[in-house]
Amino acid sequence: MSKADLIVGLQWGDEGKGKIVDHMAQTHDYVCRFAGGHNAGHTIVINGKKYALHLIPSGVLNAKAKNIVGNGVVLSPKDFIIEMEQFDDLKGRLFLSDKAHVLLPYHALIDQAKERMKGDKAIGTTGKGIGPAYGDKIARVGHRLGELLNPEKLTAKILAYFEQNKAIFAAMEVETPKEADLLAELEGYKAVLGAHIVDTTQLMWKIMDEDKKILLEGAQGTMLDIDHGTYPYVTSSTTVASGACAGLGINPKDIGKVTGIAKAYCTRVGNGPFPSEDFGDEGDRLRKAGHEFGTTTGRPRRCGWFDAVAMRHAVRVNGVDQVSLMKLDVLDGFKEVKVCVAYEVDGKEIDYVPYELEDATPIYKSFPGWDKTEGVQDFDKLPDTAKSYIKALEEMIGTKMGIISTSPERADTIIR
Ligand code: IMP
Repeated sequence: MSKADLIVGLQWGDEGKGKIVDHMAQTHDYVCRFAGGHNAGHTIVINGKKYALHLIPSGVLNAKAKNIVGNGVVLSPKDFIIEMEQFDDLKGRLFLSDKAHVLLPYHALIDQAKERMKGDKAIGTTGKGIGPAYGDKIARVGHRLGELLNPEKLTAKILAYFEQNKAIFAAMEVETPKEADLLAELEGYKAVLGAHIVDTTQLMWKIMDEDKKILLEGAQGTMLDIDHGTYPYVTSSTTVASGACAGLGINPKDIGKVTGIAKAYCTRVGNGPFPSEDFGDEGDRLRKAGHEFGTTTGRPRRCGWFDAVAMRHAVRVNGVDQVSLMKLDVLDGFKEVKVCVAYEVDGKEIDYVPYELEDATPIYKSFPGWDKTEGVQDFDKLPDTAKSYIKALEEMIGTKMGIISTSPERADTIIR
């Protein structure tokens, strides 16, 4: 029986998981998503053609790999179908959990309305409806993909839901859909998605029993986890490694090697605490050199230095076996490179993530910079100062950096 390899983001998302998942998808039979929705996103270029992936697992780009979207995910049929249209034949290669929750257009309208109402306390969500869809799931008033197989019944259920929540929808200026329109919409979804909807829990067990090579693809990052991130400035799902169990119906013993993805610096989109954020020229330089603009929303990302305290937290929460350090080349040419090694809270130095991260002031250690790591494919060929930086990070977080990426190109990857 095989154990599944797992990839998880260790910071605030956008760590560059796409490159590593794409790389690992070449050697896996199945790639499985376990949490989140179309708030995630990465772009992959193959033979000059660009593919935008939000929810379809990255195995779709490898003709031999099959793809599973687990029950822990919230799926917008409308957006998912647009994503599917990029690929020719997904029959027999794409399996969607009948227990995954359906994200409908009104979830996005509620998300956006709630953000507007929060004013300067807004979370800065992607506006895709993720929070309201998960909210309905937990409140036990959501709709599952399996229900799409009976559009008439689901239409009646959704209309009853609107009736029960009339006052809320009125305040949010969300109109009740017309019965005939809703039915037509759901029938359209069934026509495209119906053949892909299965019991993915049974499928997971079967492929593990058959010793298939399985890759579990995390979305967002540890610091955006609903429990272990910077609540309430988080997404609404369990983004950490343990989310793969609940989100796919596997057990903790089914998980093998955990690879955590981290950038050589830090970024965050949306609001919320980010102690090592750099508001000056160096932050700007990281944003430009790292092309730090969101793939899903196009928003400029907040940029700053590697946070070793938050990283230790992430390594422990996820049980990380190795870290894949991304975008080392973005630090090329800096005279010195800073790392947040501890926080100061109420005049006291601490080495863990406190309850209120916004009260933490970073304590930095500086390292000498280097000229160029871009394109280096061999650890020994890195400048000495870059090697020292990586070794210092390894010591601080107690984990090996087994993969180091020095450019977006597939080949520019150091494996140690
Ligand atoms: P939501 O997931 O749209 O509800 O957004 C909640 C928070 O998570 C916001 O700060 C978003 O910017 C952030 N977020 C959601 N998905 C991603 C992602 O894929 N990368 C980075 N940040 C994300």
